[in-house]
Amino acid sequence: MGSPHWKRLCLLLLAGLTSSLLLYSHYHATVEAPTSQRIIASLLQAEPLVLAPSGTPHGAGSRRWALGGGSEGGNSFKPSAELEEQEASRKQPSPCLHSVMARAKADPKFREIFRFNTPVLMWDQHFTLETWNRLKTRHVPYGWKGLSVAVVGSTLQLLNASANRQLFDRAAFPGGCVRCAVVGNGGILNGSRQGKAIDSHHLVFRLNGAVIKGFEEDVGTKVSFYGFTVNTMKNSLISYQEYGFTQIPQGKDLKYIFIPSDVRDYVMLKSAIQGSPVPEGSDKGDQPQKYFGPEASAEKFKMLHPDFLQYLTARFLRSEILNTQYGSLYMPSTGALMLLTALHTCDQVSAYGFITANYEQFSDHYYEVEKKPLVFYANHDMMLEAALWRSLHRAGIITLYQR
Ligand SMILES: *[C@@H]1O[C@H](CO)[C@@H](O)[C@H](O)[C@H]1NC(C)=O
Ligand SMILES: *[C@@H]1O[C@H](CO)[C@@H](O)[C@H](O)[C@H]1NC(C)=O
Repeated sequence: MGSPHWKRLCLLLLAGLTSSLLLYSHYHATVEAPTSQRIIASLLQAEPLVLAPSGTPHGAGSRRWALGGGSEGGNSFKPSAELEEQEASRKQPSPCLHSVMARAKADPKFREIFRFNTPVLMWDQHFTLETWNRLKTRHVPYGWKGLSVAVVGSTLQLLNASANRQLFDRAAFPGGCVRCAVVGNGGILNGSRQGKAIDSHHLVFRLNGAVIKGFEEDVGTKVSFYGFTVNTMKNSLISYQEYGFTQIPQGKDLKYIFIPSDVRDYVMLKSAIQGSPVPEGSDKGDQPQKYFGPEASAEKFKMLHPDFLQYLTARFLRSEILNTQYGSLYMPSTGALMLLTALHTCDQVSAYGFITANYEQFSDHYYEVEKKPLVFYANHDMMLEAALWRSLHRAGIITLYQR
């Protein structure tokens, strides 16, 4: 199973499966191109699953569920007062003119959709009996259904640094107005000369096959965050190798954002922090240093909270695919998750390389030599995402790069 031949074959099979699903997706997209009106209506529908009661997401009364070992014993509990402090610090008003939060609150539609107190990241103190009982009923990426207590618990236990509780430290930005760029890999960036503009943001998010070498003028060089699932990361290394994507971005100040879409993400994250080879599952034997570089420490890694993914899907990207036979495969794209993460953490957000109304004029990615049509995957809803970026841009909540 470990030989490259086998991996190739599996990939081919997977590619085959994806393209047959693709046909469906494309059909769905072309036949049912949603109008903005319908999108907004769908955004406002009731949520399918109950989120944590608002106001007390994981705060007072929540207790830490410690895993076996140590003086605390098996499933003992420990109060988690710190948790509240962290969540409170996020709610401070920003001194920015036109901040995401101010703009969202001033908009009649988006005011009803945004919930800025939803937890974005997950860390050790979230491993409580209450959270376990709630999340074990939802499948990944929205919960922990089918995952073992040991796998989830032993991974979360390692996310115990203060850096695991926030995407970035606000104290590092004395101006108090944190401007972020999120860079998707869309063909619109080819020849765009947006590199300087992108790098002028305080923080730059990139994801999946983020080729930089040779495209600095168009996409810049700064990487503050790299977001991915283990699946999309490894697929990017294979699919975009021919364009020079031979390594995941690495750097001293770069942080990795894991999207917990599969048990693989929990297992890889644990190995990455421990700096040891992956002990089990489909990535068995992988050396995490190969992806993330030599520095292995909890500070380097963030993990999105399943409740956050649930909230984003329910409120921003509730696709009609959810009502089809592919419903259980559906999730927002990696780019969408990074852009929405930025919207819930930064004060101002610019989006580059994301799908626009005229996407057909551009190649799938900015680094292709010959124009390739945008690939629609059946597990994503790119037309819905396009309509969301458009309406966020119109509301002045994001600045969407268009040409
Ligand atoms: C986090 O957990 C590790 C391993 O259990 C421990 O060595 C480390 O001191 C802890 N760090 C903090 C900040 O509590
Ligand atoms: C990207 O831009 C270059 C230079 O303008 C051009 O030669 C190339 O064909 C473009 N690639 C695609 C896929 O459009």
